[in-house]
Amino acid sequence: KKDQYILGIETSCDETAASIVKNGIEIVSNVVASQIESQKRFGGVVPEIASRHHVEQITIVIEEALQQANLKPSELDAVAVTEGPGLVGALLIGINAAKAFAFAHQLPIIGVHHIAGHIYANQLVQRMEFPLLALIVSGGHTELVLMREHGSFELIGETRDDAAGEAYDKVARVLNLPYPGGPEIDRLAAESDGEIEFPRAWLEPDSYDFSFSGLKSAVINYKHNLEQRGGTVNPAHMAAGFQNSVVDVLTTKTKKAAEQYQVRQVIAAGGVAANKQLRASLTETFLELNIPFYVPPIYLCTDNAAMIAAAGASMYENGVRSNLSMNGRPGMEL
Ligand code: KG4
Ligand code: ZN
Repeated sequence: KKDQYILGIETSCDETAASIVKNGIEIVSNVVASQIESQKRFGGVVPEIASRHHVEQITIVIEEALQQANLKPSELDAVAVTEGPGLVGALLIGINAAKAFAFAHQLPIIGVHHIAGHIYANQLVQRMEFPLLALIVSGGHTELVLMREHGSFELIGETRDDAAGEAYDKVARVLNLPYPGGPEIDRLAAESDGEIEFPRAWLEPDSYDFSFSGLKSAVINYKHNLEQRGGTVNPAHMAAGFQNSVVDVLTTKTKKAAEQYQVRQVIAAGGVAANKQLRASLTETFLELNIPFYVPPIYLCTDNAAMIAAAGASMYENGVRSNLSMNGRPGMEL
C-alpha cells in the first residue's frame, strides 16, 4: 500500500503551524511559529494581533513544512486544517490558506476539531486503544472525553467557567508573572517549600464537570486580604497551593471516570498537560490502577499542526471530506 502524507495546518490561537505526517503516525516535518514573545507585552492573546501574525507567517510556515519533508504538493494526499474552535479571525487565515493550497494542487480538504487534534497528538507516539479516556486541558479547554472508536467523541465532563490554562494564566497575572503563566507557576510550585491551602471545587458528587473560577477568586482574595493587613505574599507558596488544588481535582475526576467507564487507555492532552506535577500525579495514579496512561512530549502538548495532520489522517481513512465552502467555527462542538 502506498504511503499516505497529510499536510496539517493550525492557526486557531497564537501559533502559526504546518506539519506533514506520514501514515497518520510519523512526523515528517513540524513547523511552529510562535507569537508568545509578541503577545507577552499584552499579558495574553490579542485576537487582532494574532490574525496579523498568522497572515505574515502562514505561507512561510507551509513552505518550510514541505521543504523539511522534501515533498512536492503533488505527493500529498490531503490537507487537514483546524476548523474550530478558536479565534475566528485566526482560524480563517489557516482555513483560507488550506483552501487555496488544496484548490491549486487538486487535493481534498478536511476540517479538524482542535480538541480532536490534541487527542490525536498521542497517535504520533503511541497507538490509541479503545475505550479511551482523554483529559484535555489547555488555555481554552478543560474536558473529559470518552472515545469508543476512532472519530467518536463523547463529552463526559467540561469546565463550567474558566479553562484550567486560563486559570493558570490569570493567577500568574495576579502573581506578576509573565505570560503564559502555566510554565511559570509550574516552576515556582516545584521550587516551593510550602503551600497556602486553597479550596477544591468538586461540584456534585457524580459530576465530571470542573470549575476553576472560585479557586482563582480565592487566590485573588487571599493576596488582597494579606496586603490589606500590611503583609507580603509568598508567590511560591501561593503557586504551590493553587497548583495542588488544580492537580488534585483533575487527577481525582480523571481517575473516577477511568474506573467507571473501564477504559483501556488514558491520555492527557493540551498545553496544561505539559505541567510536570500533573504528569507525575496522573502517571502515579494510573500505574497503581494498572491502566496504561500516556501523555505526548511537551512540543506535541502545546498547539502544533502535527496533531491536526494526525487527526486528519484518521478522518481521511474513514472517508471524511470537507469542501471549499468551509468556514471558521469559533464555537465548534466535538
Ligand atoms: O494547548 P495550548 O498550547 O493552547 C490552547 O489551545 O489553549 O495551551 C496553552 C495553555 C496556556 O494557558 C498555558 O499557560 C498552559 O497551556 N501551559 C501550562 C504549562 N505549559 C503551558 N500550564 C501549566 N503548566 C505548564 N507547564
Ligand atoms: Zn490547543
